[in-house]
Order: sequence, then C-alpha cells, then structure tokens
Amino acid sequence: MQKKSLQSLWSSRFIFILAATGSAVGLGNIWKFPYITGVNGGGAFVLVYLLCVLAIGIPILMAEILLGRRGRKDPINCLKYLAAESGKSPLWKLLGWMGVIAGFLILSYYSVIAGWAMAYVPYMASGMFSGQGSDFINQQFDSLVSSPTTLVAWHTIFMFMTMFVISKGVRRGLENAIKYLMPTLFILLLVLLFYSYNYGAFSQGLSFLFSPDFSKISSDGILSAMGHAFFTLSLGMGAIMVYGSYLPKDASITSSAIWIALFDTIVALVAGMVIFPIVFANGLEAAAGPGLIFKTIPVAFSQMSGGTFFGSLFFIVLVFAAWTSSISLIEPAVVWLMDKFSVTRFKASIILGFLVWSVGLLSAFSFNILSEVTFSQSIVTSAGEFVILKDASIFDVLDYLTSNIMLPLGGLLIALFVAWKMKKEYVHQEIAAHPIIFPAWQFLLKFVAPTAVLIVFMNALGILAFIMK
Ligand code: PHE
Repeated sequence: MQKKSLQSLWSSRFIFILAATGSAVGLGNIWKFPYITGVNGGGAFVLVYLLCVLAIGIPILMAEILLGRRGRKDPINCLKYLAAESGKSPLWKLLGWMGVIAGFLILSYYSVIAGWAMAYVPYMASGMFSGQGSDFINQQFDSLVSSPTTLVAWHTIFMFMTMFVISKGVRRGLENAIKYLMPTLFILLLVLLFYSYNYGAFSQGLSFLFSPDFSKISSDGILSAMGHAFFTLSLGMGAIMVYGSYLPKDASITSSAIWIALFDTIVALVAGMVIFPIVFANGLEAAAGPGLIFKTIPVAFSQMSGGTFFGSLFFIVLVFAAWTSSISLIEPAVVWLMDKFSVTRFKASIILGFLVWSVGLLSAFSFNILSEVTFSQSIVTSAGEFVILKDASIFDVLDYLTSNIMLPLGGLLIALFVAWKMKKEYVHQEIAAHPIIFPAWQFLLKFVAPTAVLIVFMNALGILAFIMK
C-alpha cells in the first residue's frame, strides 16, 4: 500500500485557514443556520449553539486538526496509525469510517440544496423577481422544489462541479478560489445587512435572534443546536482532519482553530441578522423550514436598486461557498479509496461522484414525488414522550442522522481519543504548551466536551428526564 508521507502541503498557514474556512463556511451558515434557528424559536437556540461552538466546537476543532497533521492520511488510516502509535486498539479506525460515511451522506443532500441556490442565479439574473412581493417569490420556490427533473438537473451539475475539482486535487483549485470568494461573500452579506437595517424590522429581528426565551426550545432543539455547531465547523467527520494533514508542522493549531471558528460564527450571525428582519417586515414565517432563505433574500433584492445584479451575485457566491464545502465533504472518501484500491484520483472521483449522486436523488425526490414517504419516531418513557422524528422526509432523516447523531458522536470520540488515549508527549509535540490555553483546552476536551455531548444525547432521548425523575 502506498504511504502518503510525502503528501503535498499547503503553501502557508494562511492558506490552511482559508481552506478550512472554505469548508466551514457554506450552506450551513447561510441556508441552514437561519432555517433551523427559525424552526427552533430563535434566541435560546442561538445561545446554545454559540455555547457549543465555544466549549465543544473549538476544542474538538483543535483536536481534529492535530490528528490530521500528525497522521497525514485519510481519516480511516489516520486513526489506525495514530492508535497504533500510542499502543491503542486498531478499532479506532471505525471512527474514521463513520466520518467517511457521514461526509458521503451529507454531500448527497447538500448537493441538492446547492442546486436550489444555482437555480436562483438565473431567476435573479432574469429580473423576474424585481418589484415582486413575497407571494410571487414563495410560489416560485414552491414550483422549483415540486419539479423533480429541475432539482435533479441542478443536483447533477453541482455534483459534476464538485467531482471536477476533486479529480484535479483539492489544493490547486482551492487556494485561489477561496482567496477571492470569502471576502466577496462577506461584502455581499454586509450589503444585505445594510438593506435589512434600513428596510427590515431590524430590532424585531435582533431580539428574535439574541433574546433567549428558554420556554421555546425543546430537548430536540438543544440537540439540533449542538449538531449544528459540528455541522457548521465541518467537525466530527474527517474533513478538517484531511485538511489538517496538509498543514505545515510549524503552524499554530490553536490560533488557526480560533480564526476558523470566529469567522464561521460571524458569517452565520450576520446571515441571521439579514434574514429575520426581512421575515418580520414582510409578514413571513420564521419557521418556514428549508426554504427560508429562498423566500426572504429575493424579497430584499426585489426591492433594492441594482437588485438584479446584487441578487445574482449573491447566489453565485453562495454556490461557490457551497462548492468549497462540498469538496471537503467527499475528499476523505476519495483519499481513502485511492489508498485502499490504488486507483487514480480521477477514477475515485468518478466512482464516488456517481454513488453520492444516486443517493442524492432520494433527497431531491423527497421534496416532490416521495414527499409522502415520512418517518416518525418517538421514545416513550415514564418521564414523558420524546419525539425523535415527526413526519420527517427522507431529506430530514438524512440530515438528522448525520448532523444530530453522526457528527457529534464522531466529535465525542475524537475528543476522547486525543484527551485520553493519545500519548501526552505526542499531543505536546503538536500543540504549543501555553500556560493558560493548553490546560484549558485539555480540560474542555477531557471533561466538558464529552460530558456535554452525552448529556445532550441523553436529554434528547429522554434518558435524562427518566433518571432525574
Ligand atoms: N460546514 C459546512 C457548512 O456549514 C458543511 C460541512 C459539514 C462541510 C461537514 C464539511 C463537513 O456548510
């Protein structure tokens, strides 16, 4: 089997931060964060999400970069190798497996949603929304998702784009794209923020986002907030591990992780501050679900001068942001396949691209011809009934399974591995022994992150209520 010790490295730490930020910032920030915040009632959800980023996300982000840089392999071989290095069970590679599968499943539906964003580029550019109200805009969204052929067409194009970059090798395409992309995305968000501030119900939007009302959040909402902290930071599945494996030895992991998390969080919060003022000013539904940004952002552009131009640009940039995330979702699987079967990058890309595309059809159809296929699951304990899934579509189930279960579980195991299983001296070789940051990180990783993930899991399953009764 070929060893990848000679793997090429990022040209600098700055490029690593850019690439990891490119992975982190995507549909999760701009599409998913506002939509699940709306569904889960706002402020309390946002607060739990922020706490999770801080206390669980950043420490695990550091741990995952560390594993990647030390192992310099795909997640499966990386964990196998690092477990052996510290004299631990080879079964740790199963954690790598779970990550590779999670990335595969996430990409399958991620590509469908990225397809929606692509469909909006011509909508915007044609000027069909200009001067239109939210009724027309809602209708347009509904007619898009009810057409299986349109969704599959865009999903296909997006998968092609993703696998094209992957087949060329991530580094070459990525470095340049991200350097321009991230600043553009951010500037456009600021333009939108300016609009929301002037024309939206700004203070109502802000209070929805930032004044927590804990009666509005359920145990399941808390689980979603935690799951989203993992999703948005691309954590728990090996994407960051693979990117970390290209990180030069002398770069600081701590400050890289803090920058990535900071930027990712700011983008999400600004997206929320753009969207909710528009929602409230136009009498729209905060809990509109996955269509939320597609029903609100066009309203802003339809009323703005230059909206056709800025609106098209916004969705183009959103597609790019999704693109830089999607390649990181499948890169672990590609590196693994190349290594395992000694196939070329090109072949590995074609095989995986086709498989992900096929699974993605299920999500595309779950908005139309398969919308009747739903799943409900709840757990009844003597402490009450705990709803796990309620009339969930195939898309909802895939999302729940990956973000709420697989990513946090992956993150939990990464924390346990680095904090408890890896030899101390190896950890010290990777992370600088700062007198405050190092012990704080160890504490969070050893005790806080694992306990928090377990408590949130048990809470959502009703186990906690059962015990405390
Ligand atoms: N973080 C990406 C986003 O927010 C999604 C993602 C999840 C990417 C997991 C890689 C791994 O859009």
